[in-house]
Amino acid sequence: MCGIVGYIGAREASDVLLEGLKKLEYRGYDSSGVAVVKDGKVGLRRAVGKLDRLVAEVKKRPLAGHMGIGHTRWATHGRPSEANAHPHMEGGVAVVHNGIIENYLSLKEVLVGEGAKFKSETDTEIISHLIHREIKMGKTLVEAVRATVRLIKGTFAMAAVSEHEPDKIVAARMECPLIVGIGRHESILSSDIPAILSVTRRAVFLKDGEMAVLSRDATIITDFAGKEIKREPTTIDWSPIMAEKGGYRHFMLKEIFEQPRAVADTFRGLLMEESGDVFLDGLDMPAGSIDRIYIVACGTSWHAGLVGKYFFEEFFKVPTEVDLASEFRYRNPLVGKKTLVIAISQSGETADTLAAIKEVKKRGASTIAVCNVVESSLTRETGWSLMTHAGPEIGVASTKAFTTQLIALYMLALYFGRRSGNVDAETGVALIQELLRLPKKLEETLSVAPAVENIAKKYSHLRDFIYLGRGLNHPIALEGALKLKEISYIHAEGYAAGEMKHGPIALIDEDMPVVALAPNDRSYPKMLGNMEEVKARGGRLIAIVNTDDIEASQKADDVIKVPPASMHFTPVILSVPLQLIAYHIAVLKGTDVDQPRNLAKSVTVE
Ligand code: AGP
Repeated sequence: MCGIVGYIGAREASDVLLEGLKKLEYRGYDSSGVAVVKDGKVGLRRAVGKLDRLVAEVKKRPLAGHMGIGHTRWATHGRPSEANAHPHMEGGVAVVHNGIIENYLSLKEVLVGEGAKFKSETDTEIISHLIHREIKMGKTLVEAVRATVRLIKGTFAMAAVSEHEPDKIVAARMECPLIVGIGRHESILSSDIPAILSVTRRAVFLKDGEMAVLSRDATIITDFAGKEIKREPTTIDWSPIMAEKGGYRHFMLKEIFEQPRAVADTFRGLLMEESGDVFLDGLDMPAGSIDRIYIVACGTSWHAGLVGKYFFEEFFKVPTEVDLASEFRYRNPLVGKKTLVIAISQSGETADTLAAIKEVKKRGASTIAVCNVVESSLTRETGWSLMTHAGPEIGVASTKAFTTQLIALYMLALYFGRRSGNVDAETGVALIQELLRLPKKLEETLSVAPAVENIAKKYSHLRDFIYLGRGLNHPIALEGALKLKEISYIHAEGYAAGEMKHGPIALIDEDMPVVALAPNDRSYPKMLGNMEEVKARGGRLIAIVNTDDIEASQKADDVIKVPPASMHFTPVILSVPLQLIAYHIAVLKGTDVDQPRNLAKSVTVE
């Protein structure tokens, strides 16, 4: 969590830093700050609350200068307060940090013993003190940072500036993302790609154990021992406009509406229509070498994994288990050389997912990432990666990243299905045709938005919701409930509809809306039965059905009609109205849709 940014060049640093922080605010938004260096002095501004507060503060007390660092915080050590906000300053050294310093208490004890005075409750402040101590002993800023990163234990992406050397920013990375953008006579660093796009699309992705020294005309990358590393910049194909709201009221709404494009971009160039196969360049994994699959992920990505299990077991016919990454690591899963572990992550930076992959690699498993961010920590860790092409997802509630994950898993399962001989060419061709029709169906599905908005008005005052689904749509019920919880703060539970009678039915009364996923598939008759049970107990039914539906529609209080799709893609289609229900209820309740309370987009701590 937390986002860091740094800039050196000809522009006003505070403008670039604040703009960059705006793009990183999804990583944490309880406080923020910037430090700008000018005429051998570091100017500091910090504010508690959303970034707007910092922007107002900088407007009131401007910070001129062409070099600086900034931070947006999601508190781990110490409550949100101005004193705990970054940058932290000591003796003319300012530091921003994303991550957790595990040995900060023992280091602090030593420093306090030497007379250091601490001003915050954070683990980060230790870094500014250590760098300052090294500078006092005669080291340069680069040498001081190098000495410091060897002393601290934990995870970090950090950047430091010093009033003693006002021509450089020194940054270092250990298990937290850090990107350096290389412009013409200017450089920018950031925790994530969107924040650099206003300056440049040429980027170098730092690896664990690397440092970067940014100056106007050069960026030097070294390891922690100081050995220079040559790495060509990568050109990012995300445009600055992709990280803007583009006329939508919220990023989430824009991202919901981007799904037809995102899905098409994810399969573009990979489908072999004539042979019914999928082209996955560089995936060198014979189907016969895999006898068990684990899918590991967190949150929404875990829901995608639950759908993926159906694809792998149907197409590849290999037993597939889906685990929460945070649990998987702490049990003793049966992982060996013939195990394939697929990690799903939008950000590629989720700490538990990364840790799970590191663990299974030690046991000899093959690993694949399904990820939305190029050069993220996850894609570097796994043997092979299948990228989703959702583009930057800024809303904390995942939407287009989720549906593109479903597409990626479908393609991956089909790929192995074809290689294993379980899916013949004719079936493969039909499965690919289904996928090719999906973007158009998604376009049609989006036309339910006004109807959903009206339905949301009837239910936004209620305190609890239940979502019911069966088969591949059970994970979609879980996902619908998660969306509502995240952004509207309404308590919601997703259930496999068949489980209703085993407990949840006790909750049903006239104040309990039940969202029933009732497409016309093989579980439709059973779903009708579950809907009757809800009705009989006075529950209020919102049914999501196919356009030609009659029976379920007659039972429901409110109906949302979506185009019919094959069983495999019904989960994708149903996701759209569920995202819209959550969105419109949240808007009506006046919550912060894109940055809901207590959450951060990337959970980089365990
Ligand atoms: C989704 O709406 C959530 N914000 C959250 O559950 C998210 O999916 C989870 O934190 C995993 O993130 P990742 O996909 O970046 O690993």
